[in-house]
Amino acid sequence: MAIVAIDQGTTGTTCVLYGPGGEVLARSYREISQIYPSEGWVEHDPEEIWNSVLETVGDVLRQCPAEVSSVGITNQRETVVVWDRRSGRPVCNAVVWQCRRTAELCGRYREHEELIASRTGLPLDAYFSATKIRWILDHVPVDDEQSLLFGTVDSWLLWKLTGGRVHATDFTNASRTLLYNIVEKRWDGELLELFGIAPSLLPEVKNSMDDFGRVSTPASLSGVPVTAVAGDQQAALFGQCCFERGSMKNTYGTGCFMVMNTGDEFIRSGNGLVTTLAIGAGGEPCYALEGSVFIGGAAIQWLRDELRLIGTAGESEEIARRLPSNGGVYLVPAFAGLGAPHWNMDVRGSIVGLTRGTGRDHLVRAALESIAYQSCDVFQAMVADTAISPDVLVVDGGAAANRFLMQFQSDMLGVPVQKPRNLESTSLGAAFLAGLKAGVWSSARELEHVQQAGERFEPDPAAEEYRDRCLAGWRHAVRQTLAE
Ligand code: G3P
Repeated sequence: MAIVAIDQGTTGTTCVLYGPGGEVLARSYREISQIYPSEGWVEHDPEEIWNSVLETVGDVLRQCPAEVSSVGITNQRETVVVWDRRSGRPVCNAVVWQCRRTAELCGRYREHEELIASRTGLPLDAYFSATKIRWILDHVPVDDEQSLLFGTVDSWLLWKLTGGRVHATDFTNASRTLLYNIVEKRWDGELLELFGIAPSLLPEVKNSMDDFGRVSTPASLSGVPVTAVAGDQQAALFGQCCFERGSMKNTYGTGCFMVMNTGDEFIRSGNGLVTTLAIGAGGEPCYALEGSVFIGGAAIQWLRDELRLIGTAGESEEIARRLPSNGGVYLVPAFAGLGAPHWNMDVRGSIVGLTRGTGRDHLVRAALESIAYQSCDVFQAMVADTAISPDVLVVDGGAAANRFLMQFQSDMLGVPVQKPRNLESTSLGAAFLAGLKAGVWSSARELEHVQQAGERFEPDPAAEEYRDRCLAGWRHAVRQTLAE
């Protein structure tokens, strides 16, 4: 029996059909449009998102007409869709997690920052859903607020898949809204009142492995149960089998997302990380610390698309290797501010250490190194917050294919970096959750055999002195950038 995993991400939708051995039977991807109506605003068209799901699901079932036991959904988190329960139509475009339109609106709630953080684990920031919902309620004219429904992208898709019968989400997605109390594991009445959001808008919060209803559209999946829903970073953590307290993963996508399972301990970060809910081995909620780097692989896209220094992202690996060192050149890619541990939205990028001898290769290498340095900063913040020193960092995402970057990451951390065979841990995690609930696998422990290890990068013992020099250079570059 096969499992359909739908991974609805920021740049596009992937659907993967997995077999019972965790093998990929078929895969399909569709990009989705990025809509920028104004400086710093980012939107998606919810109908286009839904169509991309229909198309990719159609593709995989045409490629491999298997019998499907269950469906798992994983998704870009925090992004807000508001639709009318009667017409089933969105009242406006989805407001994407990257959208900064509510940065100013956050100021209105500043005095409640501590209350919000103590209940949700999150800083008051435009990144999360609550102020985006508030913005829609304030700006989009509707006849009757009572008929509105809010959901993150998982809820929207679940509603569409079940023909409008199910309005639900899971605790990982709920934990990113600024409205969910992660101590008591319920929507927080006081926070709903604070943001002026009626409980009637909210989806029911279920476990990540749960009965989410049966599919009615598309017809090719009609009657198949949806048995898993999880935010993409939490799904990836599960897909990497990070079930134990202290285990952690880093996903190298457009940005980087590092998440550490902290078990049953709600740790408040003193170092700019957020506390969130992740999924324990039995599907139960556990706590996690998360740090996001805004510009990861996007730095390489910038070299390719804006500076035109490289033709393909893959070329960067060979170019970086040509140099014996970085030549003292550092790129701080704060194109949209700096994420964890700095959380500074106003700072902008810089290049430090240019000399007459600096060439293209140095810039390419500096861009790759910047991904590793930023990940090191988040890693160190996690160690400082938890007093746990992980003995391995498991990695995934597109840029984890870059072997120079992975070796450099290991050298800079002084910790082994382990890749899985399947770098798409997000969809695999959704499939694991869906398959566990549907009985394809009997326990999470079994998954440790299904998920196969790939290449491992050991820190070079000879790189110690080099590491100190590089990290000192990076810290100096960040300080200079922040001071500007
Ligand atoms: O918090 C945003 C995150 O869930 C988006 O992930 O992979 O769609 O960029 P991704």
